[in-house]
Amino acid sequence: MLTGNLLRRSHRLDEAKTAFSLARNLEPLHPYACLGMARIAAYRGDWVTVATTLEPMLQAHPLFAPALRLLSQAYIQMGRKPPFGEADSVKVPIEDVIDEPLLDALYERSALALIRGNPDRGKALLPKRCSRCHTITRIQQAHKSASQWLHTIGRMQGQAGREWLSDSDAADILSYLANRLHG
Ligand code: HEC
Repeated sequence: MLTGNLLRRSHRLDEAKTAFSLARNLEPLHPYACLGMARIAAYRGDWVTVATTLEPMLQAHPLFAPALRLLSQAYIQMGRKPPFGEADSVKVPIEDVIDEPLLDALYERSALALIRGNPDRGKALLPKRCSRCHTITRIQQAHKSASQWLHTIGRMQGQAGREWLSDSDAADILSYLANRLHG
């Protein structure tokens, strides 16, 4: 399951999807496999798939906190009322609450190792690819971890589309920005 998550984080979405699909063939309502599939759909803005993937899984595992949060987000995106009020959050078991930061720390350390972008190419691409909608001053001044850049660039790719910012361009720019931080 970890492999699927790491691949998803590094934008290799189709490979991640295959890994999660294999897991779901063995166990269709596997919480992490369903969450992984749903996160890929969310990354692509496909909120209907997010909902239809998570709803049956949450019937089997009703207190799986990260999935509850993502499903709430899907409902909001689709203009539906989120099904879970703030009061429900007290029912979330403590394992799930501590689980996510631990996984995030792991992703953060693994993200750069997995993304084999070319930082020099990324440096040259950045002014071209990243100045269409805003200046690059804000990018130059931003201090983010590798995983935060991963998240931001993924969002920018969602805004701009893959025709403007391909996966390999995104990986190169990410390698440059994340290495710049550590260098
Ligand atoms: C299609 C338009 C578009 C392109 C191209 C684009 N951005 Fe953005 N960017 C936005 C918008 C809109 C916002 C403000 C809303 C938001 O934060 O999502 C933003 C905000 C930001 C922010 C500030 C918010 C944050 O999360 O820190 C950063 C940093 C950023 N962009 C980096 C980049 C980088 C790096 C690239 C190139 C890989 C890029 N942008 C390309 C539209 C774009």
